[in-house]
Order: sequence, then C-alpha cells, then structure tokens
Amino acid sequence: MRIYVDCDPGIDDALALAYVTAQPDVELVGVGSVFGNNLVPTTTDNALRLLELYGRPDVPVARGAGRALAQPPRPALHVHGENGLGEVELPEPAAAPVELSAAETLVRSARSAPGEIDVLALGPLTNIALALSIEPDLPRLLRRVVVMGGAVRAPGNTAPLAEANVASDPEAADVVLGAGFDTTLVALDVTMRTVADGDWLDGLDRVAGRRAETTAAILRFYTDWYSGMFGVRKCAMHDPLAAAVLIDPTLVTDAVEVPVRVELRGEHTRGQTVADLRLNRDRTDGRPAVTLVGDVDGEAFFKRMTDALR
Ligand code: RIB
Ligand code: CA
Repeated sequence: MRIYVDCDPGIDDALALAYVTAQPDVELVGVGSVFGNNLVPTTTDNALRLLELYGRPDVPVARGAGRALAQPPRPALHVHGENGLGEVELPEPAAAPVELSAAETLVRSARSAPGEIDVLALGPLTNIALALSIEPDLPRLLRRVVVMGGAVRAPGNTAPLAEANVASDPEAADVVLGAGFDTTLVALDVTMRTVADGDWLDGLDRVAGRRAETTAAILRFYTDWYSGMFGVRKCAMHDPLAAAVLIDPTLVTDAVEVPVRVELRGEHTRGQTVADLRLNRDRTDGRPAVTLVGDVDGEAFFKRMTDALR
C-alpha cells in the first residue's frame, strides 16, 4: 500500500504519522504540509521533525498552502501549543522541504503511479483542491482519499456545526468532496466517540523508548485541553483514526454512502458538512457519494495505536 499524507502537525497529526510509519506493509511516498493547527512554516518544520523522530527522515516533505482559498488562517495554538507539538522541542530537522509545492508534489506522485496511491488528508483540504486545479484527472489517478474532517450527525468543534479542517477552508473542502475521488470521510461523528481514555493514556506512559515517550510528552498538552472540555482525562484521536481506517478499512463497523456538501454562505453555518441522508434523495443530481464512517472497532484501533508506538 502506497500512502501520501497531507497534514498540519499538530498533535493528532503527529500520532497519525507515528501510526503510518510503523506499518511494515505501507510505503509512505511523501508528506505535504498545510496551514491549519499552526502556520505553514511551523507545520512544515514539524512534519520534518516528526519524520525524524519516527525514523523516516528519507520521506520527502513538500510545503503546502499558507492560507485557504478565501479566508485567512486561524491557528489552534490553544489545542496544540505555540509550536504545534505541545511545547515539546524536537531536534532541528536535518532535512529540508523539497522544491515543489505540496499540490505539485501530489500531482507528480499521482501521475507517476496511476491508481496506486492513497491520500490521507488530515488538515484543511487546500492542497488537494489546488492539486485538482493543476490536474483535473486526479480522482482517476489516485486510488482513494481518506479525509479526517467534517461533522455530519455530531456537533462541530470550531463552531456549533463546523469541524476545524473543513471550517479552515470550506471552499476547498466543497471542491474535494464533490470531485469524484473514492472518498472516505472520518468525521467528528466517529472521532468524538473513539476517544482515548485515562487507562489508554496511562498504558502509553508505560511504553518505553524514545518513540513512545516523546509522543506521550507531546500528547500531554492536547490531553489537558481535551480533559478540560470533557471533564475527565480523555482526548480525541481524530487523525490517527483516519490513518487506521485507511490502512485497514475492516475497522469500520458502520458507514453510509452519501453526497456531502459544504455550507459556504451561512452566517452561523459556514463550514458545516451537509450530508443528504434522505432515503428519497435525488440520485441524479451529479454530486458523487462519499463513504461517511459512522463507527469503528475502537478497541482494535487503540491496541494498534499503542503497538505503533512501541
Ligand atoms: O477537527 C480535528 C482536526 O483538526 C484534526 O485534523 C486536527 O489535527 C485539526 O487539524
Ligand atoms: Ca490535523
């Protein structure tokens, strides 16, 4: 399996990179950075640092978009820390980003191996939308796209109805969800019911080795923020759950095929992901369906997440 990761690291992005890099049967062909949890110089630098931490400094990192198609960035420093990694200082990376942008790199990778590469999209969908503008045939050149984003039957997180990745670039998300990729959407619907609890976090604290110990340290800032919100020691595992679903779709125990659009104009609803769940929906309006994940085998996921950090 060949995977390209587009991300905005970001603490849960870090866990996703840990997960992907731990899989022996996965070839990580590249990583694109995008603004989101932090500004793009920081997310790019973090991607490089994390790949070194996880033993893959050879994976090319391409710097991506610094802003959305139609709005300025709004970094989530309160969730991920000033440096995007919970104020844990990883060593300066030896590697530098490649010359091409993330959108150009994604297009080049897809053209070089038509139908073989899966994309794991963990941040705002700006790079993917830009890649589509360079190569409109991208949906046929990529095998699959798994997106962490959206909130369909669950509340939003950055706004009552909007999830951070989609709300950070609603126009890009609407383009990507309607482009005709073989798309799986891992939204807050499932990530907010598959949260790490105190027992799992304690278990991680007992795993020895630099990989696990550094990741546990990075996770502390994020867990403190989530625990304040939940009222108990817990944290969401948005991005690594999307990675796990991409690598093993049999983890999914409930899903529906539905077209999803993004609200672009609402005063209180901009960035909302609107799925047409009607039984009598118009199936001839041309909007392609995406696979919206409803539930997963959480126990298997958390075991695999711990194993990935050993
Ligand atoms: O809403 C959760 C998503 O937004 C995750 O990808 C997190 O890293 C942030 O980008
Ligand atoms: Ca992310």
